[in-house]
Amino acid sequence: MLGLMPDEQQQTIGGRSFWRGHLHGQDVVAVLSGIGKVAAATTATVLIERFGVQRIVFTGVAGGLGPGVNVGDVVVARQFLQHDLDVSPIFARHEVPGYGRSSFDADADLTTRLVRASESVLGALPALLPQGVRSAFGLHAPRCHQGLLISGDRFVSTTAESEALRRELPLALAVEMEGAAFAQVCHDYGVALAVVRTISDRADDAAHVDFARFLREVASPYSGAIVEALLGGPTATSTTARPPAAAPPR
Ligand code: ADE
Repeated sequence: MLGLMPDEQQQTIGGRSFWRGHLHGQDVVAVLSGIGKVAAATTATVLIERFGVQRIVFTGVAGGLGPGVNVGDVVVARQFLQHDLDVSPIFARHEVPGYGRSSFDADADLTTRLVRASESVLGALPALLPQGVRSAFGLHAPRCHQGLLISGDRFVSTTAESEALRRELPLALAVEMEGAAFAQVCHDYGVALAVVRTISDRADDAAHVDFARFLREVASPYSGAIVEALLGGPTATSTTARPPAAAPPR
């Protein structure tokens, strides 16, 4: 992401590096979220409180849960839920105390633009990834899915756990560790959020295989290209006076 910003300036807040600069003429802040819901909530709060961002676009990776959500596909979130939140029997399973709800919505317009940007990148995959990388990860005709993204403070790496999540939350398309925390903070502040995740694994017994290589060779180019397409591509429109934030993959 930083390679796309011609003029970024670094600032450290709360132990994180925030990079403020421009992308296709738009004022942006780029930051690595950190892993897990607490790190994510802190990062989102700093983006909003200290940088005044009005829109947040989060890119990263996730484990595929839904049928047909395969490695190399992309999931764009329409709703977010914390799968490990359980204040039962005082509140319903997954309900966020004080909110009367268990899920938060992504911003509809920003998300629709992110879907279009993701589809345009997937449609031109050969231009983005060398043949060797595509065949190493079995990326042939990757798809873009939209729907429920679930988050929790656990890397899901056993078939038993992913099956349990599928039974409990059959609509979940993918699992990761930050999206729902960003969604709750953005809800609190009235900030627009859109999240796109590249599927790095199937959240099963093979989930750890080649994870670092996947991040470097697939997820990172996907994220850069999707953000470029979002801000600079034919679907892009500039609608804010204040900076949006772009979070590169963790
Ligand atoms: N991010 C990428 N893969 C994941 C998994 N299997 N569980 C949680 N977060 C992830």
